[in-house]
Amino acid sequence: MNNTELQTKGSREQFKTRFGFIMAVAGSAVGLGNIWRFPYITGVHGGGAFVIIYLVSIFIIGATIALTEMAIGRHGGSDVVEAYGQYDKRFRIPGFLSMIAVTVLMSFYNIIGGWSIYYFIQIISGKFTGISSGEVESIFGNFIVNSPQVAIFTIIFLAVNTIVIVKGITEGIERVSSIVMPALFVLLIVLVIRSLTLPGAKEGVIWYLKPDFSKVTGSTIVAAVGQAFFTLSLGSGAMATYASYLSKDESLPKATYSVVITDTLVALLAGLAILPAVFAFGVSPGEGPGLVFVTLPSIFGKIPFGAFFGAMFFAFFFFAALTSSISMLEVSVTYLIEKKKMERKKAAIIMSIVVLLLGIPPLMSFGSWSHIEIFGLGLFDLYDYFVSNISMPLVGLAGALVICWVWDKQVAKDEVTSNSKFEFRLFNIWYNLTKYLVPILLILVFLTATGILKI
Ligand code: TRP
Repeated sequence: MNNTELQTKGSREQFKTRFGFIMAVAGSAVGLGNIWRFPYITGVHGGGAFVIIYLVSIFIIGATIALTEMAIGRHGGSDVVEAYGQYDKRFRIPGFLSMIAVTVLMSFYNIIGGWSIYYFIQIISGKFTGISSGEVESIFGNFIVNSPQVAIFTIIFLAVNTIVIVKGITEGIERVSSIVMPALFVLLIVLVIRSLTLPGAKEGVIWYLKPDFSKVTGSTIVAAVGQAFFTLSLGSGAMATYASYLSKDESLPKATYSVVITDTLVALLAGLAILPAVFAFGVSPGEGPGLVFVTLPSIFGKIPFGAFFGAMFFAFFFFAALTSSISMLEVSVTYLIEKKKMERKKAAIIMSIVVLLLGIPPLMSFGSWSHIEIFGLGLFDLYDYFVSNISMPLVGLAGALVICWVWDKQVAKDEVTSNSKFEFRLFNIWYNLTKYLVPILLILVFLTATGILKI
């Protein structure tokens, strides 16, 4: 198959503007990884020292793989299974794996999305105002074990996703992302200003950004590469699927840089929004749910206009999660449309039901199934482990192999330069990084993430 044949295939919808595409992809990238993972791992891995290593990882490795996955997706012009397997059918397997993994990811991501709706309502109704940290903790504890209640909020969150996806690429994804992403940025800036002006905020900034090279080890580099990978939604079919709806008249390298810069900026700012506030109140930062759903609400309960800023934070959190989860749903919906010739609406509804059912075990794992462990992991963590530690690095590796070892070099070059329409000076660097360095690093990430290799 040559390029022209692929270009004229069918009459698929396409993103209307480059801005819309970038906002959609950045929307996928900006999510829980930026808000509750990045600030924390930066703090424990040596602050500013980690930021430097992270920046190198994200611009050298993250951007390289992002471009690779988008090139595969756009060249395929179809679903992710077709895209990976277009020249060698064996690579349909990682395509398929990515689709399963991203659906599993969505099934637990949604639950957290649902939590943010509950918190938004609670905070706006003043429930956190003036209460002690212990009380906040028990609100959280009582909420997450109440599975029927959590299920309702999960369903609401999921339903919003379904509606956006039913509306399609331009009217749904592009429109929502183009409005939400700039708004999200404004919310974030306001939160940063609020946080930095709290008395005692300085300590937090110091903990967060002061370079401490003594904490830098081999595992720091693996952590940085792993974070770069997760935060850019790589190895999960989302980039390839979105790019399949992008016109050949757009420059992929340019889009890649815009997305990487946006995502990095949001991650750095999220740290500045959260950590100074945490330190101002003398609490020590932890990772994940505790930080966002216990520490922050108790701070919002103590500062002037806390309910207002708290509502803003959870709105921010909700939208960041939403623009990520719609990209997860779109992967399998695109597949059903292309491969099973299904209508978009039907595909979106079927996949939403699948996601909901798949979400039952992780949801229950906070409640009455909390005792169930498989391979020593609770059900929620087990899902996360399969997606983040196993599937993502393997699919990322497959992407590098596809473009540099399966495709002709010229095919790759034509795709990333839109048949020489755009000059891409870094082509050889990108190509060789993808061909040699990326596979080695991803194998290393895979081996350490799965505990096979200890460093
Ligand atoms: N990038 C998302 C975040 O930072 C997480 C993520 C990983 C993701 N893989 C994805 C989102 C695939 C959408 C699609 O939270």
